[in-house]
Amino acid sequence: MIPVIGLGSWQVFDVGASAAERQPLEEVISRFVTLGGRVVDSSPMYGRAEQVIGDLAAKLSLHSALFLATKVWTTGKDEGIASMEKSLSRLQTRRIDLIQVHNLVDARTHLATLRDWKEQGRARYIGITHYNSSAYPEVARLLRTEKIDFVQINYSLGEREAAKEVLPLAQDRGVAVLVNRPFGGGDLFARVRQKPLPDWAGEFDCHSWAQFLLKWIIAHPAATCAIPATGNVRHLEDNMQGGIGRLPDATLRQRMVEAIAQL
Ligand SMILES: NC(=O)c1ccc[n+]([C@@H]2O[C@H](COP(=O)([O-])OP(=O)(O)OC[C@H]3O[C@@H](n4cnc5c(N)ncnc54)[C@H](OP(=O)(O)O)[C@@H]3O)[C@@H](O)[C@H]2O)c1
Repeated sequence: MIPVIGLGSWQVFDVGASAAERQPLEEVISRFVTLGGRVVDSSPMYGRAEQVIGDLAAKLSLHSALFLATKVWTTGKDEGIASMEKSLSRLQTRRIDLIQVHNLVDARTHLATLRDWKEQGRARYIGITHYNSSAYPEVARLLRTEKIDFVQINYSLGEREAAKEVLPLAQDRGVAVLVNRPFGGGDLFARVRQKPLPDWAGEFDCHSWAQFLLKWIIAHPAATCAIPATGNVRHLEDNMQGGIGRLPDATLRQRMVEAIAQL
């Protein structure tokens, strides 16, 4: 079991070693765990993010509380292994909770290695990721033909296409779904800013636009965990609240789609 709200790390965790750069992220990850969060998603593609997460987890003794997810993003078997070794070293762990093939790059090659790592106990779960609907046919093909534990995909009130095939297929195959870009990379806030939250949002214990966007996602029966990225502790608290209380039913979810379309 993992909590429905996780933490992404693209861009926001790619910072240097100075106290001024690290302190806000230390506050974010510490508060995340205090509020019951576990899943932190990273990638060797995210600059210094893996190192920052590893350093902060070690400094705050959070390794046992966190469910660490990272990725392999290169071509070739040996290059993939070397990359994953570096990721584990930067994250300061001997076993990773989840390794995913980032953007399906050389997926067949890496999935064979990932299965080996899983057998050896170096990775608890394995998966694939993408962030764009152009890749859905290939994501669907891998979901049908490969044995994977997780798929990570973009799905939000601004990008709903995954609900057509990828999400139902993942559900049928018993594959857990991490949802990336839950705020469309932040773009959805530009649409809702200055607009009043509909009063019926109270029907599902929703008190902010961030919670509105997150609750719509995690109410999908296939969604396991949404992974919003933030470097701001107030935003983190807002997002974590999105995982608490009632969720919208199918009728309310449709009303939410229409409310966003009308903005
Ligand atoms: N191919 C892949 O595998 C792939 C692709 C894309 C993303 N991902 C993963 O998914 C994660 C999430 O996607 P994303 O980072 O692209 O975008 P996102 O989570 O949809 O949006 C992040 C943006 O939203 C802002 N934000 C967060 N919470 C907020 C709140 N409560 N109120 C107002 N603004 C808020 C953040 O700024 P502040 O810092 O100011 O809060 C940030 O600019 C990534 O970090 C990464 O881990 C994976």
